[in-house]
Amino acid sequence: MNALPGPSENERTLARLVRAHDRWRGRDVLNLLPSENAVSPAARKYLSSDLAGRYTLPLDTEWHGERIDNSYTGTRYTDEIEQLGNASAARLFHGRYATVRPLSGHIAALAALVPLLPAKSRILAIEPKEGGYDGYAPGYIPALFGYTVRPLPASGPGFTVDAALAVETIERERPDAVILGQSFFLFPYPLREIAEAAHARNALVFYDASHVLGLVAGGEFQDPLREGADVLFGSTHKSFPGPQGGILVTDREDLFRQMDPALVWRIFDNAHWNRIAGVTQTLLEMERVGPEYARTIVRNSQALGGALSEEGVPLIAEAEGFSRSHQLHIDPERLRAAHGLGPSALARRLERQRLLIDLVGRIGTAEATRLGLTPEEMPRLAELFVRGGIRKEKVAPEVLAWRRTYRELRFA
Ligand SMILES: Cc1ncc(COP(=O)(O)O)c(C=O)c1O
Repeated sequence: MNALPGPSENERTLARLVRAHDRWRGRDVLNLLPSENAVSPAARKYLSSDLAGRYTLPLDTEWHGERIDNSYTGTRYTDEIEQLGNASAARLFHGRYATVRPLSGHIAALAALVPLLPAKSRILAIEPKEGGYDGYAPGYIPALFGYTVRPLPASGPGFTVDAALAVETIERERPDAVILGQSFFLFPYPLREIAEAAHARNALVFYDASHVLGLVAGGEFQDPLREGADVLFGSTHKSFPGPQGGILVTDREDLFRQMDPALVWRIFDNAHWNRIAGVTQTLLEMERVGPEYARTIVRNSQALGGALSEEGVPLIAEAEGFSRSHQLHIDPERLRAAHGLGPSALARRLERQRLLIDLVGRIGTAEATRLGLTPEEMPRLAELFVRGGIRKEKVAPEVLAWRRTYRELRFA
């Protein structure tokens, strides 16, 4: 047999890039991006398990005159892994029906909306300019499925939703569905009032918990299904510290019976079972340590908000206590007026000093909390932030030395 060629130059380059990335993002920077998190060691192990290359497709159908219960063999463990995940999600998010199959938060949104809302449905959603998710803006999901979107107003510091205004909008617009949830997400919604007004008009209430799922899992922020949302869905990798993926939960059997069968062959086929094992591990970790994790995130956000504000970084919603979530928002106008630079220039400066925030002015505390930072350490973080980002000092070596002291994830 001829010997096969060894690894190519490109393969060696790839190996070097992945190693460099892992060192950079895993050990050398302090991540304050609110859309990301660090995956626990056990979940990472499952991501690279044999499950990464396998299929399972449980079904109950007839194929050439024979009844089959799965398209594949060799699945004796896979289905049980998924059931563990679904059961844990149902317990954590307080709905009897849950699936961890959606591949991401956006896919979970499709999995919830498309089977329940026919073409021409009218939707209320928060506009991107008021912190809403771009996917619900007219050119995106609504354009694909023939939905009309009207704005659900969010205003004031932190783009909050006012109960009376939301109810008035629901009564005026008579939507078929209300989608709550934001990419800029500081404060909970008056969900009971919104759900009552929506249900009085037979409208469904969807709660996109992509950003706040880790908080909800730990009993912070709000409890969407118990407060009146019909369906909760979202990403599993922002404040919820799992591998990238999506989740869908409801307490309504009638809705689940429409959504669940629509997943396979409509929204996707293979659900990526290594990811599901990783998400399941994280769900089980959250059942164990979620309340302490979520509480610490919110305390860290409020402590960091106070410390940054004292150091002269203008933040949104100062009078409201800055945040009840894992996010803080920089006030772009006041930042420009006080320091002559916008959030994106600040983010790039901080990146050079090994501190990561996003270019649209959001700061996140979830990953720092998972590393083990506590409210007592927020003044030090704020000081490094200001020295590196505002005063242009070279704080990268200090950040690195500090970051290296956090070797293991807490809450894992
Ligand atoms: C509110 C909201 N919903 C959905 C998504 C999409 O999530 P994913 O990237 O997991 O598809 C995002 C992404 O940032 C988001 O902010």
